Amino acid sequence: MCGIVGYVGYREATKVLIDGLSRLEYRGYDSAGVAVLNGSGLKVERAVGRLNNLAIKLKEHPLTGTLGIGHTRWATHGVPSERNAHPHSSQDGSVSLIHNGIIENYRELKAELQAKGVEFKSETDTECMAHLVADCYSGDLLKALHAALTRAHLRGGNALVVAHKNHPDQVVCVRRGSPLVIGIGKDENFVASDVTALLPYTRRVIFLGEGELASVSRSGAKVYDENLKEIPAHVETTDLSIEAAEKGGFEHFMLKEIHEQPTAIEATLRGRVADSHIDLRELNLDPARLKQVKRIQLIACGTSLYSAMVGKYLFEHFTRIPTETSSASEYRYAEPVIDKDCLVIAVSQSGETADTLEALRLAKAAGAQSISICNVMGSSIPRLCDATLYTRAGPEIGVASTKAYVTQLVGFIMLAAGLGRIVGATTEAAERTLVNGLKQLPEQVKKLLDSDIVGVKRCAKRYQSVFNFMYIGRHFNFPTALEGALKLKEISYIHAEGYAGGEMKHGPLALVEGTFPTIAIAPKGKTREKMISNIQEIKARKGVVVVVATEGDQEARELADYLIEIPECLEELSPVLAVVPLQLLAYYTATQLGRDVDKPRNLAKSVTVE
Ligand code: G6P
Repeated sequence: MCGIVGYVGYREATKVLIDGLSRLEYRGYDSAGVAVLNGSGLKVERAVGRLNNLAIKLKEHPLTGTLGIGHTRWATHGVPSERNAHPHSSQDGSVSLIHNGIIENYRELKAELQAKGVEFKSETDTECMAHLVADCYSGDLLKALHAALTRAHLRGGNALVVAHKNHPDQVVCVRRGSPLVIGIGKDENFVASDVTALLPYTRRVIFLGEGELASVSRSGAKVYDENLKEIPAHVETTDLSIEAAEKGGFEHFMLKEIHEQPTAIEATLRGRVADSHIDLRELNLDPARLKQVKRIQLIACGTSLYSAMVGKYLFEHFTRIPTETSSASEYRYAEPVIDKDCLVIAVSQSGETADTLEALRLAKAAGAQSISICNVMGSSIPRLCDATLYTRAGPEIGVASTKAYVTQLVGFIMLAAGLGRIVGATTEAAERTLVNGLKQLPEQVKKLLDSDIVGVKRCAKRYQSVFNFMYIGRHFNFPTALEGALKLKEISYIHAEGYAGGEMKHGPLALVEGTFPTIAIAPKGKTREKMISNIQEIKARKGVVVVVATEGDQEARELADYLIEIPECLEELSPVLAVVPLQLLAYYTATQLGRDVDKPRNLAKSVTVE
């Protein structure tokens, strides 16, 4: 949520900032802005809308200077407008700063500052910090930031980067709940909210820890703890490549990421499936502690929540331990019953989703064991957990999650079966069969991507002008229905609902008429027959049905208005395959409607506000 870039070096800062922001635009795209320092002070340029609007402005009014900060915004406080765009500056223009997060107590801070005569120019929560830093400044910028933080008693997750007109070789920053990474170059250094912004310049990075501050200059970066004591900076080399963060010839990141799913699954399985068993030694799980687990609670948001819903079925199937899935934003306020016999699993692509992070903190404070399934190495959620199973999907840039979802499913399958073996609920034979099935998944997804696109495209074209869609599935594929509907609504803006197949007769069947399409997910397995009955009930009411079925299912073929076939697989693996055509259906429907697929309106990729 909101992208941040800072630069100190020898290049023209605006170029580096715009380039970095273009890689972070998935974090927000309501407005963008930069502040650049040169001989005549800090110069700010901002524009409402996409980054390109700012780039055009900067072409007309270039800003020169080799130190700067830049921001791309997802509005929280104050409408998307130029005056609410970051950077925000102090009244005298000496301080400019950019911010990611929410300052929950900004009203008190603002009132305090206004009482002292400060005039606010925006409706944002951020602006008060620019005034506070200026107020605390007496020659040392880092100390000013630290003093402002101490005075503000900031509530909420925040990351801030600050520049000052008197400091031509320094930007300072703090990480408090929202991620920040420092890029180490030669005679130039960087700050960003995500490593992808830095890849064209450096792969040597310092991930700031929670509460840490840093001072970044042309010659290096120093890291400080929350008491402003200097601490050793741990420089790592990221193995992400620049290609991984670019479109690689695809029209959209989403389409590229859909096509990366075979390799992402393969990478997630690598080293974790041996000949006949699942090998999770890298997680250092403690079997004795796991045997004490009486309940499992899965927490997540958005698409990750739907993978966690599949996770519930998988854990109960493989471990027979009662498992519940909760939306993290609900979990926190639902008075969950948590104790030391409870295992909490937090699922998150980004590892930074504020609701998931806070729900996890709550569970940990109550004594639960914790595991995460996460895609971003070193992000906040894995840092809090006892163990993490990293999905290895690579950077996911498209706001609508695809490859992260299927790798989370694969992560859940391995974790559930691995735990099943530890607690003695999964037999060796079942594990062997599962491992065989898992190994086939990359090839099967590839086959699906190669074969089904034409049919899916035709289907998308046929139904692009429909206003409502229903998606139905049962058991392992009930969450597939929810995820399919979510994909369609978030990128095409067509209303779609996911439903449990068996619930249709309790209400939604009333919606069915000649033009109303239902996508029925009915692969081979114990609920297939029931799904076929549901499809028949819809057909009997003249509804249109697109059926996702296992190859060779003749009955499905006869019933379907459109048939999408997936390769035969174990029932518990079918959500991995069944979701792929639904992603493509959403993608092609949205592109035919001319939607901005990678940056759907009002949404952002990484939601670091509650
Ligand atoms: C946002 C994204 C979704 C994502 C959700 C949870 O809403 O648009 O694609 O599923 O956040 O994010 P996480 O990073 O925790 O998986």
